[in-house]
Amino acid sequence: MAKAMIVQTGGGFDKVVAGEREAAAPQAGEITVRLHACSLNYHDYAVVSGMWGPSAPRIPMADGAGVVTAVGPEVSEFAVGDAVVSAFFPSWEDGEPEVEGFATVPGDGVDGYARELVTTTASAFTRAPKNYSHAEAATLTTAGLTAWRALHEHGRLKAGETVLVQGTGGVSIFALQFAKMAGATVIATSSSAEKLAKLKSLGADHVINYRENADWGAIARDFTGGRGVDHVIEIGGPGTLEQSLAAARIGGHVSLIGILTGLTGEFPVVTALIKQIQLKAVLVGSRRQQRDMIRAIDANDMKPVIDRNFRLEEIVAAFKYQESNRHFGKICLEF
Ligand SMILES: NC(=O)c1ccc[n+]([C@@H]2O[C@H](COP(=O)([O-])OP(=O)(O)OC[C@H]3O[C@@H](n4cnc5c(N)ncnc54)[C@H](OP(=O)(O)O)[C@@H]3O)[C@@H](O)[C@H]2O)c1
Repeated sequence: MAKAMIVQTGGGFDKVVAGEREAAAPQAGEITVRLHACSLNYHDYAVVSGMWGPSAPRIPMADGAGVVTAVGPEVSEFAVGDAVVSAFFPSWEDGEPEVEGFATVPGDGVDGYARELVTTTASAFTRAPKNYSHAEAATLTTAGLTAWRALHEHGRLKAGETVLVQGTGGVSIFALQFAKMAGATVIATSSSAEKLAKLKSLGADHVINYRENADWGAIARDFTGGRGVDHVIEIGGPGTLEQSLAAARIGGHVSLIGILTGLTGEFPVVTALIKQIQLKAVLVGSRRQQRDMIRAIDANDMKPVIDRNFRLEEIVAAFKYQESNRHFGKICLEF
């Protein structure tokens, strides 16, 4: 029997209990993984906190990393001892998006990785980067891959282009790092002076306090000499879209990613039209995109920014810490 954290039906911080789950021997096409880390995302927060609570008891967490301990028949991708990281959409190998919503996503529609052992389809994991700890690997599944897909799959980011990232959460810090890795100029926003200084030390070329500057879109555009930014990593949603479009260049690319300011709202249709904005919604990515990202990470020896690690049993404390918005980059569970 292995330890597991379970969110009871409906979710809520008072509905998270410690339990035990067995991991069966792997059948054809399956592997068993001894998990050592998870990372937290807003999506997992929504499941655990009860915002989008599960309809049945559920092991939360989409992002998990660990070591393969057993391999079933017909699995050629992995061997015992491989360090692996989970895939957000285990059935989406490559090509056009083919999965809608979260019914197959570990930690939401099916059990996830807040547990010590899992036996599952081999396609639920990919290899982890070479020189990563398990906690570092666990940051990649959701936040890392979303930023990667936005900039490289859809944005076709080129050296010398300008990327705008919003706030200092997981997705935005990965986008900053991937953009700098590709030779881009980065404009970053935050609500805190201390975090703006950290953004600078991570390589941000220009920073803006979005709380003190309601017109941060125009300020960002000024940093580009009036041309506008090439790519916007849009994590705020309805409350930030207007400024994102103000920041973008004519024909600029805006990745619609987050909902931190709400689920619905007004959309500046005319600005989008006259600027001929390329608006592209992103929902994480495929296994092939994850492998591409990991190859680039290995080649550049890039490391994620982890703010703090908690123990598996401290999952609720970890989400309360995320809720406080004091973090910079990723929060992980390590076990
Ligand atoms: N579509 C997808 O595939 C996908 C994947 C991952 C995440 N997301 C979404 O993207 C969003 C961010 O996720 P995350 O995991 O990076 O979250 P996170 O780590 O919890 O990020 C929180 C940070 O966002 C910043 N923020 C909050 N409100 C903001 C605002 N109005 N303007 C600018 N920044 C603001 C704050 O930064 P400061 O403290 O520096 O101000 C805050 O610390 C969430 O809505 C999440 O659901 C979507």
